[in-house]
Amino acid sequence: MATARAVSVEIDSRARYHLTITLPASGRAGRLLFLVALWPPSIFLAQAPQTTAPAPSASELKLDTGKQIYEAACIGCHGPGGRGQPQTTLGFEPPATFPDFSDCPTSTPERTFDWRATIHEGGRGRGFSEIMPSFAEALTVEQIDKVAKYLRTLCSEPDWPLGELNLPRPLITEKAFPETETILTMAANANGADALSSNLTYEQRFGVKNHFELSVPVNFSEQGAGTWIGGIGDMVLGVKRVLAHSSRTGSIFSVQGEVSAPTGNREKGLGSGVTTFETFGAFGQILPHFSFFQIQAGVELPTDTDKAPKAVFWRTALGRTFTQHQNFGRSWSPMVEILADRDLETGADTNWDIVPEMQVTLNKRQHIRVNIGIRTPINNTAGRSTQVMVYALWDRFDGGLREGW
Ligand code: HEC
Repeated sequence: MATARAVSVEIDSRARYHLTITLPASGRAGRLLFLVALWPPSIFLAQAPQTTAPAPSASELKLDTGKQIYEAACIGCHGPGGRGQPQTTLGFEPPATFPDFSDCPTSTPERTFDWRATIHEGGRGRGFSEIMPSFAEALTVEQIDKVAKYLRTLCSEPDWPLGELNLPRPLITEKAFPETETILTMAANANGADALSSNLTYEQRFGVKNHFELSVPVNFSEQGAGTWIGGIGDMVLGVKRVLAHSSRTGSIFSVQGEVSAPTGNREKGLGSGVTTFETFGAFGQILPHFSFFQIQAGVELPTDTDKAPKAVFWRTALGRTFTQHQNFGRSWSPMVEILADRDLETGADTNWDIVPEMQVTLNKRQHIRVNIGIRTPINNTAGRSTQVMVYALWDRFDGGLREGW
């Protein structure tokens, strides 16, 4: 079926909900205009009895609760319980990303914040199918908030951590939320020896509270007089598990175990030459006004301490998200990270670094993001360079790389 060109929606003074879908010209049928009048259920029939009394205006309609709004304006497509109407009722072919709000694995990673933007802007505004209408005219922002919150109640298993707890990813501090993401991070020395490192991380969620990740570093460094050497570094495999989360307090806590294999060449300075186990805890907390902080603390345990020392590290990120276009558009998240690490050897110093950075969403669907920052040593600057760091992040959960622009 042809894709819809324009979709408009209105709720008229007789409590009828109208949806107009205009399709592109197709063959001799020419331009088609579909008018779908979805009659709201009994609540409106009770509201608009067949008497001579004047019909209530849209503003007088009982659209007080999220459920009432859903049943008036959404159920025609999204179906009872958010499970989607059968295609015969829909009259259009649902896109592959058509949501089932009752399906916890696919609905809980979404943020209510993004849902309300899709409801306000329509599918078009967020890089989704244009069949999803914009309700900017038909509903007030309060009503949109209510219906978005109602969508949240449709998954009834409380074990699933909600997308709200998925805070913006800092450059270095690891998050507590289990992800389905691919991230390419690059760092270049801004002073000292010339060096460039990159790291490709693949994270895949599994089960209710877990993800696994594989990290492949590729490093380059100048070995004097314009000679560069490069190659693969030590690959890391890790598993994360959420131990506690609460959307009421806005907190999430996870633990992760990792093993780093000596795949990098130690002689060339590309790897440590030793298998290392790492374990850490990660905590995320939502603060008022779209602010947040994240903490990660852990220990590195090499299997041969002659080659690499045991070490502890502590990382923290504080930030805030600003969203353009009255919270319906692009998100900017400035953050600052403070990093500390110390080798567990007598007399070793703690290294401190500071990283101011800015994460921004690139596409309409907001699932492709970049972050750029500068990592500066605060102390022990000998042999530790200032680095320019950048990552590109693709949240695979929300769609393909080229979708949603
Ligand atoms: C004309 C049919 C139609 C109506 C009416 C409709 N939707 Fe949709 N909606 C869709 C389609 C189709 C999609 C899928 C878009 C895509 O994935 O490309 C969608 C997607 C969404 C999404 C995005 C889900 C996600 O995965 O991010 C939300 C949220 C949503 N609708 C909420 C609502 C709400 C709330 C209402 C009522 C106020 C509503 N919709 C009314 C057709 C409709």
